[in-house]
Amino acid sequence: MKYFFLSLIALVVLVIGVFGFRGDKFSQAPIQVFPDMDDQDKIKAQTGSIFFADGMGSRRPVLGTVPKNADSGIMPLEFGAGRSGYYFDGKQDGAFGNGMPKELALENESDSIGLLARGKDMFNVHCAICHGESGNGKGVVAAYFAKADPIIMVPTLLTALPATHPDGMIYDIITNGKGGMGAYKHNIPVRDRWAIVAYLRALQASAN
Ligand code: HEC
Repeated sequence: MKYFFLSLIALVVLVIGVFGFRGDKFSQAPIQVFPDMDDQDKIKAQTGSIFFADGMGSRRPVLGTVPKNADSGIMPLEFGAGRSGYYFDGKQDGAFGNGMPKELALENESDSIGLLARGKDMFNVHCAICHGESGNGKGVVAAYFAKADPIIMVPTLLTALPATHPDGMIYDIITNGKGGMGAYKHNIPVRDRWAIVAYLRALQASAN
């Protein structure tokens, strides 16, 4: 028994002698029995790096991308965050207005045709999955909407005519969303939103 305690004490002294107390500082790299994730090929925030040509560890956001929840300070100008006037909020004297804003600079027929073509592209990219390519509310996703929540229906856009849904209101619904529909102010620049409004009017005219 005596030898057991003696060897235990010797073992403790030996272990502490080799490894030291917890929290001790050493000039040499520690012995890593289980290295786990101690050493990683990563760069700490705000430090330099020889990996990138500019010598900075941190990267700038990729040009043309918009951080989620970006405020007006960081949003590219063409998304119009925090700006007012008919072009940016769809309102004239406090109410939704009708007509294409002068900022679109539509001077001749080919300007208008260009805007409509752009509107068609953007409508098919962003809106058709729900509202359908013809705007009849029968996009591929609409059926799943009905299954997930019978209360939220994807409506036809062919009845959203200027009398009840002025251009500025359609623009505002694209910008800020409505009920079960999300907002597109971070995805679609102002000019493209107006292009979609124009194309939607063309869809309605050809349907009615
Ligand atoms: C994820 C599916 C979805 C997408 C994508 C979508 N919408 Fe909607 N939209 C809806 C739903 C659902 C409603 C009904 C919202 C409510 O009243 O609760 C709606 C409502 C609307 C309304 C109002 C219609 C009315 O009669 O009041 C307009 C206008 C509209 N959307 C236009 C668009 C345009 C333009 C786009 C493309 C930029 C678009 N939506 C993209 C689902 C979608």
